[in-house]
Amino acid sequence: MSARKHIYWIYWLLITVGIAVYLTMQLLGEDKTVYLPGKTSHGHYQIEMACAACHSDPLGGGEVLQEACMNCHGSELEVADDSHPKSKFTNPRNADRVAKLDARKCVTCHTEHKEEITLAMGVTQPDDVCFKCHQDVAENRPSHEGLEFPTCATAGCHNFHDNRALYEDFLSKHLGEPDVHAMAEVVPLSSVEVYQTISSYPIEQFPIKPLKSNEADQPISVRKDPKIVQDWMDTAHSQSGVNCSACHEQKTEGLDEPVWVDKPSHKVCSTCHTDQTKGFLSGKHGMRLEQNLTPMTPGKARLDMKRTAHGDELSCVSCHSSHRFNTKDAAVEACLSCHDDQHSNSYKDSKHFNLWHKEIRGQAAENTGVSCATCHMPRKEVKHDGMKIIIAEHNQNDNLRPNEKMLRSVCMQCHGLGFSIDALADRELVEKNFSEKPDVHIESLDMVKKRLGLKKDVDGM
Ligand code: HEC
Ligand code: HEC
Ligand code: HEC
Ligand code: HEC
Ligand code: HEC
Ligand code: HEC
Ligand code: HEC
Ligand code: HEC
Ligand code: HEC
Ligand code: HEC
Repeated sequence: MSARKHIYWIYWLLITVGIAVYLTMQLLGEDKTVYLPGKTSHGHYQIEMACAACHSDPLGGGEVLQEACMNCHGSELEVADDSHPKSKFTNPRNADRVAKLDARKCVTCHTEHKEEITLAMGVTQPDDVCFKCHQDVAENRPSHEGLEFPTCATAGCHNFHDNRALYEDFLSKHLGEPDVHAMAEVVPLSSVEVYQTISSYPIEQFPIKPLKSNEADQPISVRKDPKIVQDWMDTAHSQSGVNCSACHEQKTEGLDEPVWVDKPSHKVCSTCHTDQTKGFLSGKHGMRLEQNLTPMTPGKARLDMKRTAHGDELSCVSCHSSHRFNTKDAAVEACLSCHDDQHSNSYKDSKHFNLWHKEIRGQAAENTGVSCATCHMPRKEVKHDGMKIIIAEHNQNDNLRPNEKMLRSVCMQCHGLGFSIDALADRELVEKNFSEKPDVHIESLDMVKKRLGLKKDVDGM
């Protein structure tokens, strides 16, 4: 071998070893982007560094991924009464359809890291996918004659998974409703007494009763900031027996006395506000924390955000500034301190904002205003030890897409179904944050009316 060839070999070795060391370091460290085969979808990019959340076993194939999807999304699809669950396709009757498209596996329609084929909601099938199994729909339904397949799942008609507000039965119960109901208001939140019924609440340590300012239990070593004590005194926590130590003192292994922590995390809040914390960790605001990644910041976002907020870390206090833990500011002003897209910025031109403005000034009744949170964090019922409690949904993504999810959880408390379907189907109106009347009309209610009319004629024969 010539000396020249030897040098090539040495170069080759150095480069290969160098790359191997670099890749191993990447694998052990947090930044694993180099291994990603492509851009991750809008739904998952925040947690793409937590490869193991989906690829829990690098050698495991489809089944492992399927299990991961179900772990995170299974209960949501169950609540949504999924129209196309796996069980439908394991039924031998539908084997011919499975042969066309294996709908038993989530990845058939939602693969990852393939930006070039990814549509809204992480769908990686063409927009006429319904055609594969429903090409004969017009045979039993003359009303569907001539409809294009890409329109099946556009707003207001059908969805693949969640059809709770679009079933024919449901539509037929809500024919002919007015645009706006006479009583246009949302359900009130539960009052403080319900906390006594939650068995995991630390009631022995912090009985629910108002505290006085001289009862604040901070240790002497902590700077006494009169503003903090005043804010605490003015608001719900002092009124409900939640002392400084409830949030600031944490037990540490090996120490008898709990230690004062200056900046408590969401984990502390979770001891008393379990549902809110769970919701927060399931959506775009908290999903990184749930995977033990660093908190989300507006600077990392794909959506438009205010420049001034780029470094702010998302936590409970992003919306509920300590120590007032205000819920009204949290519902609009906090959101607008970060969000900067056309829809968010148009909200203040809407009649909904007028209603909200009146409510917070005491010129209109409680629960009649429509804030960002009214739509994105609707109040919902949860059960604790058999008791029903009304809380705010803290997962902003729970009813976001497809937007018909908002019909039942939000709009129908104040509007008729027909008006609401039209408004949500009008993409431009969504951009303008509902500051006008809808300019689109969806015919599903008319179709139901016609079908019921026809049935009556037949029955009457
Ligand atoms: C939210 C879930 C999720 C996360 C997080 C995730 N992936 Fe994936 N990944 C998938 C899915 C789904 C597929 C597609 C599998 C299929 O179509 O069979 C995939 C495919 C891949 C493939 C291609 C495999 C093949 O068969 O072509 C590679 C490589 C990959 N992922 C690497 C990574 C790495 C590295 C990370 C972390 C940096 C990561 N993934 C994070 C869900 C995820
Ligand atoms: C570690 C938990 C986790 C795993 C595993 C996971 N997801 Fe997700 N997924 C999320 C979160 C959190 C979001 C964002 C919040 C939301 O949209 O609900 C999301 C978003 C989505 C979206 C987009 C929803 C939208 O409105 O845009 C789809 C579709 C989806 N996931 C499907 C899947 C599929 C299919 C798998 C399995 C390959 C999977 N997910 C695995 C947590 C997970
Ligand atoms: C045959 C294709 C297909 C299969 C299989 C499929 N999806 Fe979907 N998925 C869709 C379509 C289409 C949408 C868009 C919204 C709609 O029409 O419901 C969607 C939307 C979603 C969404 C966001 C909207 C919502 O209703 O929450 C999630 C989350 C989701 N799918 C998860 C899953 C999971 C988890 C699986 C596996 C259990 C799965 N999907 C299997 C086609 C599919
Ligand atoms: C892989 C095959 C397959 C695909 C793709 C598919 N469906 Fe279905 N769908 C079925 C089966 C099977 C049923 C059960 C009823 C039947 O046998 O027709 C069904 C039933 C329905 C129903 C009746 C409601 C119910 O809960 O029974 C609706 C509405 C529907 N599909 C809409 C859609 C839409 C919209 C799409 C496209 C986004 C779609 N389907 C894509 C197989 C499929
Ligand atoms: C409901 C939970 C809660 C209660 C009760 C509470 N705090 Fe805090 N406190 C927090 C949180 C959360 C932070 C961190 C805020 C941040 O990260 O910006 C904080 C921060 C602080 C800080 C350090 C940051 C600063 O602003 O200087 C001090 C000091 C403090 N609290 C004192 C008190 C005192 C004194 C009391 C009782 C009168 C009290 N806290 C009651 C949650 C609480
Ligand atoms: C020891 C239990 C406990 C802890 C810990 C706790 N809270 Fe509370 N919180 C309560 C109780 C009790 C109320 C009163 C509920 C009511 O008035 O309806 C309350 C009320 C609230 C409210 C509503 C305030 C209002 O004006 O209606 C918010 C927001 C809140 N807490 C956020 C937090 C956050 C954020 C944390 C963590 C930093 C936290 N809480 C920690 C028990 C706790
Ligand atoms: C994106 C902003 C935002 C974040 C982040 C947030 N909240 Fe809230 N929270 C709100 C809004 C808005 C309301 C009032 C909702 C209403 O009036 O219906 C609220 C209400 C509450 C309430 C009183 C109503 C109820 O559900 O009982 C509690 C308690 C609460 N939040 C706790 C928390 C905790 C704990 C965290 C962190 C895990 C947190 N919040 C994070 C916006 C937020
Ligand atoms: C501290 C900044 C901050 C505050 C305050 C905040 N958000 Fe967000 N929000 C974000 C970031 C960052 C994302 C993730 C955006 C992305 O992934 O591109 C997000 C995501 C969302 C999403 C999901 C968007 C999607 O496409 O999946 C909704 C809806 C949302 N926020 C609504 C609200 C509402 C309503 C409020 C007030 C109650 C609020 N946010 C308060 C920073 C904030
Ligand atoms: C009347 C109900 C309503 C109100 C009020 C409202 N939104 Fe929305 N918001 C929606 C609907 C519907 C969508 C569209 C979901 C879809 O179809 O993609 C949406 C979408 C969003 C998104 C996601 C945008 C994207 O491109 O992914 C963000 C972020 C958001 N809203 C924030 C806000 C903020 C901040 C406010 C208050 C300033 C607000 N919204 C007020 C109903 C509302
Ligand atoms: C708390 C009750 C309430 C909720 C919830 C609510 N709205 Fe409204 N909305 C109203 C009232 C009241 C008006 C009429 C205001 C007026 O005419 O002054 C209105 C007006 C509207 C308008 C007409 C605006 C105009 O300029 O004429 C649209 C469109 C609209 N709402 C859509 C929606 C949609 C879509 C949802 C659900 C995502 C929703 N609203 C949720 C109470 C509500």
